[in-house]
Amino acid sequence: MRKILVIHGPNLNLLGQREVDVYGDVTIDDINRDLKKAAKAKGATIEILQSDHEGAIVEAIGKAKGHFGAILINPAAYTHTSVAIRDAIAAVGIPTVEVHLSNIYGREEFRRTSLVAPVAKGGIYGFGKLSYILGLDAAIAMAAQ
Ligand code: DQA
Repeated sequence: MRKILVIHGPNLNLLGQREVDVYGDVTIDDINRDLKKAAKAKGATIEILQSDHEGAIVEAIGKAKGHFGAILINPAAYTHTSVAIRDAIAAVGIPTVEVHLSNIYGREEFRRTSLVAPVAKGGIYGFGKLSYILGLDAAIAMAAQ
């Protein structure tokens, strides 16, 4: 099923204004526009959710089974804290690609642990907007399996 659920976690709606030295001046609209274009070029469709609420993200993942072939997620700060998002991904068993704009393994100690990584198919981090585009490629390939 070439339908991908794209999830942006908390504060990613503020991209372009927030910590520009770390995340650059790219906005979430720029990312979403490029993701839609890339998906279309590959014959895939995407549905996009941005939420600051852990429960809303858990719910979206929980309802994804049977509707999406893969999940592309930047869990943002919840990467480092959310057992609930980790468990939701494990529960639905949908191939999931974790992405980050920044290299979380080269930043503060608390960002170097991802609770999502062990249940994801794989992850791409450190390439800014390109992390999402590469991640989408991987998600589409996983969805086709
Ligand atoms: C982030 C990295 C996280 O540590 C941080 O909390 C974010 C963004 C990234 O894309 O680099 O909000 O997920």
